[in-house]
Amino acid sequence: MTSYKIALLDGDGIGPEIMAEAVKILKLVESRNDVTFDLIHTPFGASAWFECGSAFPDQTKAVCDEADAILKGPIGLSHEESKKIPVDEQPERGALLPMRRRYNTYANFRPVYLPKGLAHFSPLKPEIIGEGIDIMMIRELVGGLYFGHKETGINEDGRRYVTESLEYDEDQIKRIMKVAFKTAMKRKKVLHNIHKSNVLKSSVLWNEVMEEVHADYPEVEVINILVDAAATYLCLKPTMFDTMVMENMFGDILSDQGGGILGSLGLMPSACMGDKKAYYEPSHGSAPDIAGKNIANPYSMIGSVAMMLEMSFGMDMEAKNLWHSMQSVFADGFSTADLSKEGSGVTMLSTSDFGNKVADAFLKTSNA
Ligand code: IPM
Ligand code: MN
Repeated sequence: MTSYKIALLDGDGIGPEIMAEAVKILKLVESRNDVTFDLIHTPFGASAWFECGSAFPDQTKAVCDEADAILKGPIGLSHEESKKIPVDEQPERGALLPMRRRYNTYANFRPVYLPKGLAHFSPLKPEIIGEGIDIMMIRELVGGLYFGHKETGINEDGRRYVTESLEYDEDQIKRIMKVAFKTAMKRKKVLHNIHKSNVLKSSVLWNEVMEEVHADYPEVEVINILVDAAATYLCLKPTMFDTMVMENMFGDILSDQGGGILGSLGLMPSACMGDKKAYYEPSHGSAPDIAGKNIANPYSMIGSVAMMLEMSFGMDMEAKNLWHSMQSVFADGFSTADLSKEGSGVTMLSTSDFGNKVADAFLKTSNA
């Protein structure tokens, strides 16, 4: 029997509630496969800072170092609460970015997936959605502005100034391009390369390296598109995209736009892959305003489990079953609070009821 150690980082706000639904599913996967999961909850985020004095405590580092995969809930607090934590230790800067750096999780997969059964959640018109949207956004996750040199001070004119640099070297670009081309090969063999080379030198190097890597994947058609134009086309004609690759900040922004296209960031799971370690997380925040109310949508957390099953454990069939089960709940006419207004005629599900319905549907699928 195969055994995997999974670090569970519940995080802040709605984190523990949606993590509980993810755990429900992991137990089911265990119950019907030749696999055991050693699930280890460990503190991370603002709650960890208040409990242990660190947003990414040593004990959590030790558990994550040993784990076969990491499942992470959302982190962060309200603006007011965050101010109680020193700036550099606030969970985004003090935990999340350090984790990305520690495990070098440079390739962030963010699926923007809207099959027909979910199309009614999208703000886009049915004729724009057509047969459905299926985009894999690949975001470089450990370079660029977020990890570049930062400096603040007073300049010669006595004015406060700030400098932040967008840094990449060719190896960093090469490795994310390889991931992008490999992904495109498995999908429709069309890669949209997102850049801003009419202004940014970083994009000029990005495109140069992209072309070099392209030589190894001649079957893939590359379409170069400026990031601002890509934002427009994501609204006007999202079905023209299949695999997209982009640098860190472009990916942060366009993937949130992806959530908007779907109707909610609650429909955006993600996988953060390094060569040796991977972690999985919803793309959204910790929604402190609705924490503890059992109304958060756990789709992106459960979807992150599906991505983990496929990408870390090679359980492709169960991953597919899980995706199918999650979508079937919405296709059956149910909804969650982030996606529909109360009184709009749909049956609203709580966090735990959504998890239960996914579990029921999952048990009806076949893993043979
Ligand atoms: C995301 C988040 C993070 C990011 C924040 C929380 C640092 O917005 O994963 O998209 O900007 O990368
Ligand atoms: Mn983001």
